[in-house]
Amino acid sequence: MSDYVKIFLDESEMPRQWYNIQADLPTPLPPPVDKQGNPIGPDALAPVFPMNLIEQEVSTERWIDIPEPIMEALTLWRPSPLCRARQLEKKLDTPAIILYKNEGVSPPGSHKPNTAVAQAYYNREFGIKRLVTETGAGQWGSALAMGCRIMGLECKVYMVRISFDQKPFRKIMMQVWGAECVPSPSENTRTGRAILAETPDTPGSLGIAISEAIEEAVTDDKTRYALGSVLNHVLLHQSIIGLEAQKQLEKINLYPDVVIGCAGGGSNFAGLAFPFVRDKIHGRDVRILAVEPTACPTLTRAPYAYDSGDVAMMTPLLAMYTLGHGFVPAPVHAGGLRYHGMAPLVSHVQREGLSEALALDQVECYQAAMQWAHTEGFIPAPETSHAIAAVIREANQAREEGKQRVILFNWSGHGLMDLSGYDNFLNGHLTDYHLPDDELQRSTAVLDNLPKPPPRG
Ligand SMILES: Cc1ncc(COP(=O)(O)O)c(C=O)c1O
Repeated sequence: MSDYVKIFLDESEMPRQWYNIQADLPTPLPPPVDKQGNPIGPDALAPVFPMNLIEQEVSTERWIDIPEPIMEALTLWRPSPLCRARQLEKKLDTPAIILYKNEGVSPPGSHKPNTAVAQAYYNREFGIKRLVTETGAGQWGSALAMGCRIMGLECKVYMVRISFDQKPFRKIMMQVWGAECVPSPSENTRTGRAILAETPDTPGSLGIAISEAIEEAVTDDKTRYALGSVLNHVLLHQSIIGLEAQKQLEKINLYPDVVIGCAGGGSNFAGLAFPFVRDKIHGRDVRILAVEPTACPTLTRAPYAYDSGDVAMMTPLLAMYTLGHGFVPAPVHAGGLRYHGMAPLVSHVQREGLSEALALDQVECYQAAMQWAHTEGFIPAPETSHAIAAVIREANQAREEGKQRVILFNWSGHGLMDLSGYDNFLNGHLTDYHLPDDELQRSTAVLDNLPKPPPRG
């Protein structure tokens, strides 16, 4: 093995097709249904999404061509480097090889633009003039603002109130790219007004912001909604991360023992992991690990159920691990990991036993992020720090067992717009928050009256 820190791909080596895991799943994904449990057809989604994206949402084609204008936009920052965290390896004194895909090199600083430019393009091709969305930490909102600017669309972003207050610079980034950004819940929508009347001090949630964005999108024929995670087509667009990583690993003749990503709605995790899940389905020995916060333990503690993607139940019901659509998570700093559900595809892969999940406390994650910054230099996003903390656990275990192990993870974004969380950590103001059982029971009670997904097997 050669001595390397970064493995680059030439632009000409960039994947020209996305990978769709639906073609390889051992059992099919349960379809979205209405409240009576009837599968819904593509037409039911038409007021919310353009038909070309709906076609991708339901496609079972294994490979889907990436249109040239999207390739052109992606090439502004892709291919992203595959890096080796040698300094961290040294500090941990581990025999493990730690490799990471650096998705923080995109203009807004995360993996989110991989789907933002694609969604903006398909909407433009369908004749849409304006996109409305929600954002948690602000990474997605800023990514869509940039994607819309590149593709020539207008953009409006409902930003979860706690993040709007904690991360004012993200709002300014969105404005630089020409988007309008409002805190959610807001007075702009019926949903927002009703929630503010009942709980004026609410920190907001992604579920609320999604309801507001959809409510606004469905009222205008030239406006559609865009979601930054969870849906099949979003995970499809993110598969470029794992496909690039596989080409880069081939160049150094390595294959990972474990693939790790933090999981909020599931898109950066799936983007890196699904091409490796495909290998696993076809017999390869590889562990796949999703990491989430203990404050929002969707994969580790929530039931697998049909649930809505938003508070006002404007979306169809999706089969997924869910804490209940009304769940308002504790205001931990990893805003992008505070979503009540998990992508149906990520949930399905987990239910099939193809992946594992781990929930971590935010203080351990900030400690890991600090260790990363002290060795590798880059300051990670609070979401990314969950993956790093899991990587450090794996690397320490490799040392204790005296075994080499190749660890690959998704460095999903930088934390330069998230410094208030670091400030709180450095001043000793951060605490852990474990979701109590009774709160979990309360928030999942809404699932009792909804249709149930088919039993496993
Ligand atoms: C840097 C970063 N990583 C991870 C996430 C989590 O989202 P997902 O699970 O869709 O990758 C977010 C969401 O905002 C993010 O900004």
